[in-house]
Amino acid sequence: SDVSNDAFALARDAADALRARTSIDSFDVALVMGSGWVPAADALGDPVTEVPVTDLPGFAPPAVEGHAGKIRVVECGGHRTLVFLGRTHLYEGRGPAAVVHGVRTAVAAGARTIVLTNAAGGLRPEHQRVGDPVLISDHLNLSGANPMTGASFLDLTEAYSGRLRALAKEVDPSLPEGVYAALRGPTYETPAEVRMLRTLGADIVGMSTVLETVAAREGGADVLGISLVTNIAAGLSDEPLDHEEVLEAGRASAGRMGALLRTVLSKL
Ligand code: HPA
Repeated sequence: SDVSNDAFALARDAADALRARTSIDSFDVALVMGSGWVPAADALGDPVTEVPVTDLPGFAPPAVEGHAGKIRVVECGGHRTLVFLGRTHLYEGRGPAAVVHGVRTAVAAGARTIVLTNAAGGLRPEHQRVGDPVLISDHLNLSGANPMTGASFLDLTEAYSGRLRALAKEVDPSLPEGVYAALRGPTYETPAEVRMLRTLGADIVGMSTVLETVAAREGGADVLGISLVTNIAAGLSDEPLDHEEVLEAGRASAGRMGALLRTVLSKL
């Protein structure tokens, strides 16, 4: 359709603008740093350049604290790497195409490996600790949206690359895997929703990532997804949940998450 053609043309324009700004013709890897992950970006190497997203076609300024709205270029593990410091969320109301524009831009700029990070609530506190990472093995897209339009179909049996997960577990054999459920947000879950998600087989819950995974797979890239458990899901603990708690857990784990990402990239 015209709408999806426009979205892909916009991503190609953004990739061309990125090439012009960085004098780099093609990138290998892109990382999207979610809530709480931005402080981990410094471990990936000194910035070669930083481009404010609003300098590129199709990007909106960041709406949420903890999302810096810049694309950092680093050389990490021998790969030309794009680091998105922040993302657009579905709950911002700009639609699914805006949510996946960064991933489509990275794919148009050559990236074949997309690392998606996020903050998530833990649905299995008996097995999870705040501050621990979880490898995303699969997802439940309960966001009500999909970035693909028109009558084309996409197999998602390996949405999250088994090869990349095995590689991450070489780096840290203690890394657990889990199913990530995405809701649209911006409300955190009710206690009844938390019970529903546990019954559905989800291990962690958040408000991002799944649409970007679909867009990356549609573009033929492999996806590694890593959640940082920043809190126990609302209703499973006695304390009310707020965004500051999510950001604080990210700051506390930045060193460990940065080292994990850097080591994984060095093995790619
Ligand atoms: N629920 C949804 N999204 C989140 C959470 C949560 O508990 N924590 C961080 N992002």
